[in-house]
Amino acid sequence: MSSEVQSAFAMFSLLLLLFCAIVNVLSNPAIPLYQCKSNDDACVTRAVNAAYPLVLEANPEIGAEPMDPMFQSVIEGNLSILKFKLFNTTITGFRSCVFESAKYNEEQQTLKLDTLCAGFTLNGLYDINGRLIILPVEGNGDYSLTTKKFRLIIDLELKTFTKDGKTYKNVKNIKVNAEALEPVVYDFRNLFNGQKDLADAVLKFANENWKEVADEVQLPVFMANVKKVVKNANKYMKTIPVDEYIVE
Ligand SMILES: *[C@@H]1O[C@H](CO)[C@@H](O)[C@H](O)[C@H]1NC(C)=O
Ligand SMILES: *[C@@H]1O[C@H](CO)[C@@H](O)[C@H](O)[C@H]1NC(C)=O
Repeated sequence: MSSEVQSAFAMFSLLLLLFCAIVNVLSNPAIPLYQCKSNDDACVTRAVNAAYPLVLEANPEIGAEPMDPMFQSVIEGNLSILKFKLFNTTITGFRSCVFESAKYNEEQQTLKLDTLCAGFTLNGLYDINGRLIILPVEGNGDYSLTTKKFRLIIDLELKTFTKDGKTYKNVKNIKVNAEALEPVVYDFRNLFNGQKDLADAVLKFANENWKEVADEVQLPVFMANVKKVVKNANKYMKTIPVDEYIVE
């Protein structure tokens, strides 16, 4: 072979090797696994914390999307006195969450996650109409929300299924409770179509009463976001048989 053909051949082999390596990585999601007895809460907590950062990663091979930042085209809040929609929101912060405890109940097929997150930021467009606790509020435009510490209590109900003779678990139901532990900064542009006095009054109220306001509006937002993370987790869990992480 001429040296030119040889080097082209070497390059081709290298590319082929690289390609195989990438496919290999993609088809074997590298979730670090701990094998836990189902009643060993400390082990389950370690296992969930170890697997979590990978669950936030995109993996085109199994259809997993990137979770931090996360994109939500629409989040809808239908509260009794307040309707809001958030469009094209980018959310960062799920990487900052740590599970302080994870309790698995084999009999009831439940996993309870007590979660502490260092902070979230949300940016996008909003449309709001109704009453924010005591103040009438309406408008649409750009918004941003910045939180610090947040506690999320996440209750998951699991189901078991069998594929090719192997048993897997997936989450089938989610309940979320969220609590802002530190001030939240609310910035909604163009409230009341830009009428500054009205807009400033609402923003001042929201920022001074950050906890009450968060209690009022956060649930639809966290529900939508946690659902998305769980959807990703389910995609990974479909690739890992139960006997690789739960031992009798
Ligand atoms: C909110 O209410 C609207 C109108 O009543 C409805 O179309 C929509 O599906 C509801 N969204 C949610 C998330 O419940
Ligand atoms: C959200 O983004 C999409 C794609 O860029 C755009 O078509 C859509 O109009 C945006 N939504 C709003 C409410 O601006």
